[in-house]
Amino acid sequence: PHTAAPTAERTLVLVKPDGVRRGLSGEVLRRIEAKGYRLAAVQLVHATPELLTQHYAEHAGKPFFGSLVEFMLSGPTLAVVAEGVRVIEGFRSLAGATDPTTAAPGTIRGDLGRAWDGAVMQNIVHGSDSPESAAREIGLWFPGL
Ligand code: PPS
Repeated sequence: PHTAAPTAERTLVLVKPDGVRRGLSGEVLRRIEAKGYRLAAVQLVHATPELLTQHYAEHAGKPFFGSLVEFMLSGPTLAVVAEGVRVIEGFRSLAGATDPTTAAPGTIRGDLGRAWDGAVMQNIVHGSDSPESAAREIGLWFPGL
């Protein structure tokens, strides 16, 4: 009997403006590659309000929405498509919990993140949370990929 090879999937990773400003883009890419994932696309993007409104559509009514969008407009973002078996879950594991203060050491946010600056959480990275989100977000940040 033979088992089918597991299928590689893709996820969208963002190194947010705080990460780019702090010079952590290379460190994030290094961790993705060191884990064994492949970089399928990388691009520095200065996001627009339209792109961010679509990207964060599920958070539209939440109290932090306005400050999150404003923060994401504060500088360039490194958009990355990473590829590998279970990379969606795998990258979220590399990233660690949303709040960098309590994210586990060993994770990107736990090792490199810091507490709030005013109202905005600066947690360095974003990673898609499901195959559906990944497909939608990759389409937004890399139209035509
Ligand atoms: S939720 O409400 O449980 O869905 O929130 P969560 O999944 O933890 O976070 C969703 C994204 O919103 C960002 N977030 C914030 N940004 C700025 N300020 C505050 N207070 C804040 N709270 C949540 C969080 O970093 C997530 O962003 P991404 O880019 O998806 O990681």
